[in-house]
Amino acid sequence: MNGYGARGGIMGEIDIGDAEIAFFKDNGYLAIDRISTDEELGWLGEIYDRLFAERTGEAKGLFFDLAGPRGHEGTESLPQVLGPDLTFPELRESLYFRNAKRLAAKLLEVEALAHTGGHMILKPARFGAETPWHQDEAYWNPSEIPQSLSVWMPLDPATVESGCMHFVPGSHREDVRWHRHIDDNPLIHGLVTDDVDTSRAVACPIPPGGATFHHCRTLHYAGANTTDRARRAYVIIATAASAKRSVPAHRPWLNDEREAVAKANIDVEVF
Ligand code: NI
Repeated sequence: MNGYGARGGIMGEIDIGDAEIAFFKDNGYLAIDRISTDEELGWLGEIYDRLFAERTGEAKGLFFDLAGPRGHEGTESLPQVLGPDLTFPELRESLYFRNAKRLAAKLLEVEALAHTGGHMILKPARFGAETPWHQDEAYWNPSEIPQSLSVWMPLDPATVESGCMHFVPGSHREDVRWHRHIDDNPLIHGLVTDDVDTSRAVACPIPPGGATFHHCRTLHYAGANTTDRARRAYVIIATAASAKRSVPAHRPWLNDEREAVAKANIDVEVF
């Protein structure tokens, strides 16, 4: 199979079976063509647009440009909102959120999740920057080994031209690679890892309301948005238990960012 599956029933009940779970285990990603309903997408889109229009949480560091330096707000090419469910707790009751949690637990093969959070990433029309190759775990606490995956749902068509997800199958079995900040600028939150064998990468175009799942170590990328329409995506990160490392992993890029933000006197919390 090609990683596209899922059975949609009435009232937006979505399920995956053993074949999808096995595919995820082997490849570190999965794409499905439905996780929410068109009606819910309309409602989510209103909340989404409001959060970005109002730059919600900017003073607390919850709204920023993933691809641009902190302290230069106003021309974001990859704006994102962290924790939208903190502002709108009803998001956690959405079909999307509930389906994401249930399917994530199945894919992680656990009874229950320890933590779920989310963020929204916008690629503006004709201007949205690429999200370079990275592993999500490179952003996270080096003292932990998380058992975690991300659910990524577009609210607009996700195509190669608008910035759909690309994955390197099987890369979730590798260790966390060396990462650096985009443009080697630690004031830019976004990370990149070099020397990825992109000949093995698989693009996953999906319709609005579809979803991709990827393990926190799966190498992934999303291209720039060259289309005339914004590409909105809502990501839910689902974490089962995390194990403690006896020795923290060496991830100096995390400290570099904290130090650069402090030195530049930018008054935001760095997540
Ligand atoms: Ni990522």
